[in-house]
Amino acid sequence: MPIKFPFTKNKKQPVPQTVGLDYNQLPEHVAIIMDGNGRWAKNRGMPRIAGHKEGMNVVKKIVSHASGIGVKVLTLYAFSTENWKRPKNEVEFLMKLPVDFLNTYLPELIEKNVQVRTIGDFDVLPPHTQKAVDEAIERTKHNDGLILNFALNYGSRFEMVNAVKQIAAKVEDGELSSCDITEDLFSSQLYTSDLIEPDLLIRTSGEQRLSNFLLWQLAYAEFWFTEVYWPDFDESHFEKALYDYQNRKRRYGGV
Ligand code: FPP
Repeated sequence: MPIKFPFTKNKKQPVPQTVGLDYNQLPEHVAIIMDGNGRWAKNRGMPRIAGHKEGMNVVKKIVSHASGIGVKVLTLYAFSTENWKRPKNEVEFLMKLPVDFLNTYLPELIEKNVQVRTIGDFDVLPPHTQKAVDEAIERTKHNDGLILNFALNYGSRFEMVNAVKQIAAKVEDGELSSCDITEDLFSSQLYTSDLIEPDLLIRTSGEQRLSNFLLWQLAYAEFWFTEVYWPDFDESHFEKALYDYQNRKRRYGGV
């Protein structure tokens, strides 16, 4: 368990310094299932959407921190293909969150050299969500700092079925034969085709499941779970996850 020094100041924000964390050996790609917003709100007698709003503020904190310490890719599960089952007002709120986030935070993302991207079935999102996200993608596309990848209307099974359909179409057209189908070819048909695979998956709130998130891409990721609800998650929890990751032995099936 790393011992925390008091926060030290840098120019923009306090940066927790976790003893023993090697900032030169960070996981390149961190994926997060930001869970527990609803329970956080319920415990406070507040509506579920209050938890999501607070969760958005935590997104800001973690993005700043990940960008500041040099993580290369941060993939955040913001809305799953299954989340449409939630009450209408909650879905509407969740669809508005990226708009609010980008309205207030895009200038800072640009200043931090962050590149915004998405994975998921984007075309069926409400127009205001698409517009805000499209604008952020366009305005940050030349940035080469942290890739901030929002999983929006994302479902891993849907993604994989689509990949299969695309490959099948190429086989039908005679562009490919079935023996050309490899793991790399399959990966190339996923939303994440030009991203490195996640090294570390974090899930908050005590749940320990994948919930249809990056099922293919997480094959060799290290998993890190915490009981902390997402709205209570902060930079020190993030660094603890990174520290624990650094103390894992990744063997990729070898010895
Ligand atoms: C799961 O918690 C969380 C979500 C479905 C939404 C996550 C969204 C955010 C944290 C904000 C995203 C911000 C931006 C900028 C897109 P839950 O509601 O399932 O919690 P519960 O399990 O306690 O009910």
